[in-house]
Amino acid sequence: MKHLLATDGLDADTATAVLDTADELKHTLLGREVRKLPTLRGRTVITLFYENSTRTRVSFEIAGKWMSADVINVSASSSSVNKGESLRDTALTLAAAGADCVIIRHPASGAAHRLSGWLAPAGTAVVNAGDGTHEHPTQALLDAATLRERLGSLKDRRVAIVGDVLHSRVARSNIHLLATLGAEVVLVAPPTLLPVGVETLPVTVSHDLDAELPAVDAVMMLRVQAERMHGGFFPSSREYSIAYGLSERRQRLLPDHAVVLHPGPMLRGMEIASAVADSPASAITEQVRNGVHVRMAVLYHLLASEGAAA
Ligand code: CP
Repeated sequence: MKHLLATDGLDADTATAVLDTADELKHTLLGREVRKLPTLRGRTVITLFYENSTRTRVSFEIAGKWMSADVINVSASSSSVNKGESLRDTALTLAAAGADCVIIRHPASGAAHRLSGWLAPAGTAVVNAGDGTHEHPTQALLDAATLRERLGSLKDRRVAIVGDVLHSRVARSNIHLLATLGAEVVLVAPPTLLPVGVETLPVTVSHDLDAELPAVDAVMMLRVQAERMHGGFFPSSREYSIAYGLSERRQRLLPDHAVVLHPGPMLRGMEIASAVADSPASAITEQVRNGVHVRMAVLYHLLASEGAAA
């Protein structure tokens, strides 16, 4: 693997290899007092974030440090980006300074792809940590890792992805990865929050959450991305919550084994009731924990394994 830019096009063998490595790393580190492996000693990993993040940035930093890489965090707001430096010049500067891998989050769809082209001559690997409304591949991988732990194989499992699909790079990455791993995906959303061309995706579509819940193995609630809704929010947050929020009543419609996911940050009370988010069915904390091991695995496959970029 040279870069990780998207799950669209990521083949089942590569995705499974990353998930298996994450699982192995998790079990290797389990119960250890010192969580440090020498695997990436001498490697430099730079996170370059043009958008806010808690989970993704912190877990990439921890992942790199647990593998002994030198990890440097650059945020657009405190870098020379604020003086008008372009993305290309910023990226070339980081590569010239010695980055083996740049992990980028950017508001523009396609930014990670452009970066991978600019950094190809330097041999610097690129990881997409979320680009606009396009993709967030490591989120989908950590979601798959969490579902595998709870459900075993994803083959023929039915997963509902609920809410603001239109603006969700998490949804897009999950749709492709879940389909690749053999799961069925149903999108449950208001017509106003579905993307144009949804019929070309490997999904079915529903507008009735109550009708879907009894037949799913997992329900993935999405964040409502108000910051990307420049023309306002329709339906209103109250209407959204009534029709698409995962309430305690709705949770009772789920099969007993069903898993509740949310990529975070979550709007408690609107997207998901607090009692549901904190219930035994919820794997939200496990998602965050697995995020560290999955990101360690991604760095391993990019920088340390046979076939790595450098
Ligand atoms: N799920 C996710 O990407 O969270 P952050 O925005 O906190 O990184």
